[in-house]
Amino acid sequence: MNNTFATDILKGLSEYPKALSSKYFYDAKGDLIFQEIMNMPSYYLTNCEYDIFQQQKDDILNSIHTQGQKFQLIELGAGDGYKTKVLLQHFVDKQADFEYIPVDISSHVLSQLSKDLRKNFDSLEVSPMQGDYFHMLEQLGVDGNTKKVIMFLGSNIGNFSFEKATDFLKQIAHQLNKDDYFFIGIDLKKDPEVILNAYNDPEGITARFNLNLLRRINNDLGADFDLLGFKHYPVYDPQTGECRSYLLSLKEQTVSIADLETAFKFEKYESIHTEISRKYSLKEIELLADAAGFKVVKNFTDERGYFVDSLWKLK
Ligand code: AVJ
Repeated sequence: MNNTFATDILKGLSEYPKALSSKYFYDAKGDLIFQEIMNMPSYYLTNCEYDIFQQQKDDILNSIHTQGQKFQLIELGAGDGYKTKVLLQHFVDKQADFEYIPVDISSHVLSQLSKDLRKNFDSLEVSPMQGDYFHMLEQLGVDGNTKKVIMFLGSNIGNFSFEKATDFLKQIAHQLNKDDYFFIGIDLKKDPEVILNAYNDPEGITARFNLNLLRRINNDLGADFDLLGFKHYPVYDPQTGECRSYLLSLKEQTVSIADLETAFKFEKYESIHTEISRKYSLKEIELLADAAGFKVVKNFTDERGYFVDSLWKLK
């Protein structure tokens, strides 16, 4: 683990332009900062998806569930379950016959969530799985008789380029049967100002989140990044729908990374690309589904049309 981290950081900082993967935001500190982000009023994504579930939970259940047929509700990247619990509560109330399988790479996150669910939903069958998504899906594929509904919420798909997203979704399609569903939360294209505000809050929480990557490299690899020497800078391109975040070096500087036995030079205003949060139009979502072997069954959107939870089946 730490080894791929080290080689990825070495590779990313040796490239020109420099780039680091947003998947490394999420160490214990990063998880906490992301929680803070989800509580910011300007980060509309979480609230939109929460409202969609709150208002359309019955329609969602009826769309995925046939009376008398048991299903596995598998959530990739389950996190703290804040939004999912709205669905779980409703499904339990309606006495749907299902098993909830939260999948997450973080065992800490999973044990917290399982504890919470066991305490507050005593009749719910919970089977957490720790590991990377594909390993877990393959394992579930082996016991292929039960109907599966796979959820991938929160616009996590936005962290991939269109091509990478297509590859990822193709791999999911590969694990599904024709009666199964895929349920994906995607942030929609909208007024660029609304998007930029979500990624550039005045309190500087998102800046802290982005800079946490450098703090993590300091901590885990013995680097000497000066966190005040870099600035969080997001941009949004309304055509590609990509909100891209950068860290800009505010001065000419050299940063040493002890564990990599090397140092990196930064010019003044040189950028490190750290994240893509891609937004889609409904039309582009159709294209994405189609490219990966799916068809869109139904879209659940909020009143403002900011966000969609899109229900897919194999073509
Ligand atoms: C968790 C990947 C959906 O891209 O909106 C929030 C992460 N980055 N603020 C997103 C994030 C900056 C978030 N995702």
